[in-house]
Order: sequence, then C-alpha cells, then structure tokens
Amino acid sequence: MTIKTLFSSVLILILIFSTACSKNIITEENKPSVATEQRVIKTNVEPIQVGVDYHSFANPDVFRVTHLTLDLEVNFTDKVLQGTAKLDFAKVDKLGTELVLDTRDLSIKKITANGQTLDYKLTPQDSFLGAALSINIPNEVNSVTIEYHTSPLASGIQWLTPAQTAGKKQPFLFTQAQAIHARSFIPLQDSPQVRMTYEAIIRTPKDLIAVMSASNEPDPERDGIYEFSMPQPIPSYLIALAVGDLHFKAMGQRTGVYAEKGILQAAAQEFEDTESMLIATEEKFGPYSWDRYDLLILPPSFPFGGMENPRLSFITPTVIAGDKSLVSLIAHELAHSWSGNTVTNATWRDLWLNEGFTTYLTYRIMQMVYGDNRYAMESVLGRQDLQNDLDNLAAEDQILAIDLRGRDPDEVFSSIPYEKGALFLQELEQKVGRDNFDRFLLSYFNEFAFQSISSDEFVEYLEKTLLKDYSDKLSLSRINEWIFQSGIPNNAPVPQSTAFTEIDKVRADWLVGKIKASEIDSQDWVVHQWLYFLNNMPEKLSQQQLTELDLAFKLTQSHNNEIAHSWLLMSVKNWYQPAFQRLHNYLTTIGRNKLVKPLYKALSETVEGKMARKAFAQAKDSYHPLTVKANEDFVE
Ligand code: BES
Ligand code: ZN
Repeated sequence: MTIKTLFSSVLILILIFSTACSKNIITEENKPSVATEQRVIKTNVEPIQVGVDYHSFANPDVFRVTHLTLDLEVNFTDKVLQGTAKLDFAKVDKLGTELVLDTRDLSIKKITANGQTLDYKLTPQDSFLGAALSINIPNEVNSVTIEYHTSPLASGIQWLTPAQTAGKKQPFLFTQAQAIHARSFIPLQDSPQVRMTYEAIIRTPKDLIAVMSASNEPDPERDGIYEFSMPQPIPSYLIALAVGDLHFKAMGQRTGVYAEKGILQAAAQEFEDTESMLIATEEKFGPYSWDRYDLLILPPSFPFGGMENPRLSFITPTVIAGDKSLVSLIAHELAHSWSGNTVTNATWRDLWLNEGFTTYLTYRIMQMVYGDNRYAMESVLGRQDLQNDLDNLAAEDQILAIDLRGRDPDEVFSSIPYEKGALFLQELEQKVGRDNFDRFLLSYFNEFAFQSISSDEFVEYLEKTLLKDYSDKLSLSRINEWIFQSGIPNNAPVPQSTAFTEIDKVRADWLVGKIKASEIDSQDWVVHQWLYFLNNMPEKLSQQQLTELDLAFKLTQSHNNEIAHSWLLMSVKNWYQPAFQRLHNYLTTIGRNKLVKPLYKALSETVEGKMARKAFAQAKDSYHPLTVKANEDFVE
C-alpha cells in the first residue's frame, strides 16, 4: 500500500466516522421517530444462503408440487372454507419419503393417496411461519388429497358481514395470499419458487358469485357452483378467491371490471383506460401472457391498494376519485403481469425484483398513456416517498436485497423495494439509453418467463448482457452498491417536474406571508400538484395557517383519499381539531393500511393517543387481519 492510498483510506475512514457521528447528534428536527426506536438489531451472523426461502418449511428439492385441485365450500355462518386440496407433485429426490407443506391455523382431517390413508405430523405453530405439515409418501405415490378446513381467524381471508359491503345485503369474502398467507387457507408449498397450475370448484350460497385468479366466466348462472382453471403455472402467493354479490362490466375487448352493483359504473368509468394501458405495455415489453385482464373492486377494508392476482387484479375502491388521478395503481397491478407474475422473485428478500421493476414499468405506462407531465410528477412524488422512508429506516432495511431472516415480511413493508428499485432501473435506462434498455427488459422477461429469480441471478444476467455490452457506461461495483448497500448511491437520477416549480414558489410565498391562501390561483391544479403542495409543507404550522388553508381550499372535505390523507396527517401533527371528525370517519371507513397506518402512528405519538384508540376500537372489527396486526401494537 503506498503512502497515498494509506492516506486516502484514513481520510475515508475519518469521513465515514464523522458522518456517522454527526447523524447521532439529536436536534429538535431529527428527533428519533417511533420507527427509529423500533430498529431491529441483527443477530444473524451466518451469511445468507442465496435462493433459500427462509419463509417456507416446504421441501421442493425433494418433492415439488406442480398442480393443485381445490374443492371448497364457503361457509359464511362459521367463517370457514372446508373441503379438499389435492396436490400433484414430482419426485425430485429419488430417496425422498416425506412431503413437507406449509400451513397456518388449518384443521387437517385426513390425508389420502389412491384411497389409502397416509400418516402425517404437524409441528407446533411458529408465530408467523405457521406449522410444517409432513406427510409420509409411499413409493409410486405422486399426489395426495388433504381434507381440511380453515380457521375463522385465517390470516389470509377476510370475512365481511353484509353491513360491511356497499350493497349491505350479502356477505363478502376475499383472500390476500402475498406474502405468506396462502398457507392459512390451503396446505401447500408456500414459496414463490414453486409454481403450479390449478383448478378449483368453489361452492357458495346461491345468489353470490365466486371469482378467482384464473379463468372467470363474466356472467355465470348464480347456482352456487363455480369452476376455475389456471393453466399457467403460478406461485402460491398469486392464488386468490373472492365471493360476493358481484357483477361484471366490460371495459375493452380483453378488460373488464367486477364489483358490487353500486360502484360498478363508477369503477368502469374511472378505469376505462385499462385496455389502452394493456396495449401500450404489450407494445413495449412483449405479449401479455394471461389471456384476459380484469379488475375486482373490493370493499374499502381491502388492506392494500391493489394485488396483482393473475387475470384479476384486486383493487381498493379508495382510488375511485372521479378524475382518474389515482389510476397509476391499475398500471402498477397490470405491470405485474410481466414483472412478478411472469418473472417472479425467488424469495421475499428479492421482492424488489417484483416491485422495483413494476414501479419502473408503472411510470413508463403512465407516460405512454397520459404523457410526460404525469410521468414527471409521479416520479417526483415517488422519490419523495422514498426519501421519507430512507429518513426513518435502519440502514439494513434500506437494502434492496434485504435480509428478512427471522422476520415477518409483513412487518418490513416499505417503499425501498418499490422506489429505490425503480430509481436503480431509471439509472440503467439513462446510462444505456431508453431503446437499449427496453430491448434488455424485453429479453429479460423472455429469458425468465414463468421462472423465479434471485437478486444474485439477476446480477449474473446483467453481467452477461448490459454489463458486457455497455462496459464503458456501467460497472459491477455500482450495480452491487444499488442492490446490496443501504441508501442511494451518489449521483443517482433526480426526478424533476416543471409542474411543481410553480407550487414550490406559491408555497414559499404563502409561508412567508407574501400572499394569502385565498390569493393562490389553484383553479387548474391537478391532484399531484395538491399532494406536492401539502406534502412539502413544514412539519409545524400554526392553527391560523391551517385554518386559512382549510377555508381557502376545503381540504377537510376533500373527496380525494390521497389529498385527504396528506391533509389529515398534517392536521394530526399540528393538532388541528376541526379536521378530527373527518379523521375519525376516514379511519373507520377505510382499511387500506398505507392510508391509515401513518395516521394511527402520528396520533399515537401525540399526548392524545386516546383518539386513535377510539377510532381503532370502532373500526377493528371491520379491518382486515393484516391492518389490525400492523396497527394494534402502537395504538392499543
Ligand atoms: N403485490 C403488491 C402488494 C403486496 C406486496 C402485498 C408485498 C403483500 C406483500 C401490490 O402490487 C402493490 O404493490 N400494491 C401497492 C400499489 C401501489 C404501490 C401502487 C399498494 O397496495 O399500495
Ligand atoms: Zn406491486
């Protein structure tokens, strides 16, 4: 080592040390939030084994399930699904004698093969992984039939009473399997590395219809027996079922919407561009592999914005804003038909391969269908969400290929895999040029179609493709930094939008008292501009300032759920009580965790945590188990 390199290494060390120390000085501005205090201390010292799914007990390298046949009765009275799951499997290891499946809270009645009863054992239940079901497999047996029923508290199912639906007359049920909840309603190999085709018979009360992430008949006879088939192999987290008083309306040739009657028309109108999105995505990124693309609009307790169940994305009604301002959600779930459903993350550590690629594609789809302005605004807002999380997450949770060993994937949900993943791909795009990058994406989707891929395999593929072809523009160390290090590499792309320049100016003028809120010419502002206006206000505003904004713009009454969210969050942080009735309403009618959790968090950090408890107590029975779990610890 020369003196010069020694000197610069010492300098780098000093720099790292001093930035680390300066981050530890606690000022009023950077007081640790609750999120910081809950940082997980990693005790794992073993290196992560690449491609190992730490969230499944299954043994697909001994027996690999290839096909599932379900026959389930939907019992709304007892809140259980009961029936049989038949699993066909291939024997991968000739010496294998035990098939190991994932389960959670399932009651197993009997397991048979060719009419013969098989021995099995169930391990004690782990708090978030569930229980391993090991079945003795005699020679020559290549399928088992499991008779079982679910628990009324199954983590992957929400049972809604008629009062919790739009129509108020019929009950409703939906499943949410991602990440590891399929095992709470079907005994199976619940790992994204295992793909299976499936068929199902679902028996429901008459008058209700069942839909699945499979072939659906738009207007079936309501006889209580519905049959489905999914001929393409999919991972277990994409198996989905919903039952309710549903109706169908076509939007385009290959696209349509299922919803309760009361919101069917509004949904079809809001999402009428779905067909154009589908066509635009196919043109750029290759043919759509899944036949039809329909949407299912769920009751407002759906815990996510959307879920990319193949052929039938599940969608929250909270994005029906009347002006298509929140339809990027549809672009997102549609994009998963390429990134996620066709090319799938191998383990939950690799979630960014699903969500980062999908977020990148979402921006691209929005640009193709709605233009450059929309692309720019949404990219900037996404970058701000990312910054918000970077400011609050522990360093190890800012890594794309995150270490999730010993942790429940539900608890680690953040915008890192989404927005950091997308920003990484935007950098690759900028470096090699858009056309070249599009060609790369097309070949990537082809190369790994209907397969699962790990972060390391992705890097290997990059080495064979982009890194080889553009060695003058890209480097492996930079790529490794993006995927395996915390934070954002220096000189990363910076999304910008000219539509926000005016907003920054107006906000600044208003804050220093140069103009009154009523003088702001906001007639032509779109929802994204409003969000940018509100989200970039200082943390602390006076009661007078809040009152002024509210009077001028009627923010407490906003019908846009995203604007309302931003406003209510500001109101909680500044204890602006005139918004609290609306806040209570919001919390008790919406179950989408991304919208309610920050509000509960902010409320619970105030001295008046009581209000959070009141809303939570009132809403709890209507919330999905995931939303309850995500909030109960700090609210109750
Ligand atoms: N697949 C996700 C939802 C998900 C991720 C469920 C991880 C469980 C574990 C879905 O596609 C999604 O990303 N939804 C977002 C959409 C948004 C980013 C446009 C949501 O629900 O907020
Ligand atoms: Zn997604």
